[in-house]
Amino acid sequence: MSKIIFVSNRLPVTVKKQETGLIYNESIGGLATGLKSYHQQGGSLWAGWPGIASDALVEEDRQTIGKELRKKYQCLPVFLSEREIDQYYHGFCNETIWPLFHYFTGHTQYSQETWEAYKRVNEKFFEALIPVIGDQDTIWIHDYQLMLLPQMIREKYPEARIGFFLHIPFPSFEIFRLLIWREEILQGLLGANLIGFHTYDYVRHFVSSVRRILGIEHNLYKLNCETHTVRVDAFPMGIDYDYFNKHRTEQVSAELEAFIESTQEIRNIVSIDRLDYTKGIPDRIRAFKRFLEDYPEYHERVRLNLIVAPSRVEVETYDRLKREIETLVSEVNGRFGTVNWMPVWFFFRTFSQEDLIAFYRHSDVLLVTPLRDGMNLVAKEYIAARHDFKGMLVMSETAGAASELGEAVIVNANDHGAIARGIKAALDMPEAEIMERNRRMHHRISRYHVRFWADEFIHALSSAEQDAKPSK
Ligand code: G6P
Repeated sequence: MSKIIFVSNRLPVTVKKQETGLIYNESIGGLATGLKSYHQQGGSLWAGWPGIASDALVEEDRQTIGKELRKKYQCLPVFLSEREIDQYYHGFCNETIWPLFHYFTGHTQYSQETWEAYKRVNEKFFEALIPVIGDQDTIWIHDYQLMLLPQMIREKYPEARIGFFLHIPFPSFEIFRLLIWREEILQGLLGANLIGFHTYDYVRHFVSSVRRILGIEHNLYKLNCETHTVRVDAFPMGIDYDYFNKHRTEQVSAELEAFIESTQEIRNIVSIDRLDYTKGIPDRIRAFKRFLEDYPEYHERVRLNLIVAPSRVEVETYDRLKREIETLVSEVNGRFGTVNWMPVWFFFRTFSQEDLIAFYRHSDVLLVTPLRDGMNLVAKEYIAARHDFKGMLVMSETAGAASELGEAVIVNANDHGAIARGIKAALDMPEAEIMERNRRMHHRISRYHVRFWADEFIHALSSAEQDAKPSK
């Protein structure tokens, strides 16, 4: 029977080894949370890193993890050593590609050593896949950590059906050209039959880089490579709409119940991100400070719940960012707080999906102002979770999702005054207008949900593959 093989750096399940034994938790981040519900339907195998260094494991652990992941989660672990994690994951992925593709050229490091590690780990993923690739299978590779893998598979299996989806922005040529290994990365990607991005802007940037760097022109977003053609298209990723919309929050924790109870009289603003400098968290806090300065009538009447999930803390810029956030939060609370009121509640931790839904449903505003974001699924989750059509999204134009959610209050992430005005506009918006705007966004995200997205991609991949047969 044919199957879909998802391949991504991080599996949807993260393994930890504790004194009591091995524990399995859900992974965080758009890719894992978004794709999980599609994978749960069955008929797919997901290969990736289980989030733990193999050095910390004995052979018996590896076997147990392999069996447990396969049986319970239909996952195939690709184990990485501490050194590989350091050089490939923290190094090339998160100190080179991640900052560059998000336009943070100042944070981008160029190291031959980490590039070599990136190649080796892509090779390692390839070797892990060989035993599981069947003739009729569809291989769907995800994200920036595995951009060399399509070509590696293509060389060994010229007839394979390979799709690639990038979950982060593809930058403009002027940014992409800064990468020392730009040709190799493009060649690696072009091993696929279909390359998907969240938005048309990223598609345009990609084909322009291919033309200017490799000299390959596109014809209606089809690229003629030596052995096959490659289709490039936009597939804006959706969420599991029904899950967020219909989910009953009877199982919220006592902590969340207490939050709901104690904030009845106050307007809640919520903000939920992984710790990342691309998310614009310090500017968001500064903008909230501006809001409190400009609109004193909201003192003691509003509260910002700033939820930041720990992520990549071993990378220095991430650790510095955490300290910057802490300083800013305490400045705002120190300046505006009263004995009865703390304006910003900062949580550096994760919450269960149930509790997040409860947060969404009890917040008047979701504030999402990334400086750059491939898509941002939190924005769609918030809208879906508000089945009462209430609550307003304030979002920056530099999030991929902004191009689909035009009815939200759209702001420039660098403009603190605009964000402050955006918060005020969202809080003051008449209910009828909020509901009207949300209805339109519901309509869109309920149609383009994650299963629709994945089916559309797989469908486009099978037709692209027909074009990809080696030319005579
Ligand atoms: C983003 C990336 C994903 C990544 C996730 C979490 O959403 O596009 O590929 O998995 O962040 O980051 P992490 O480094 O923890 O996997």
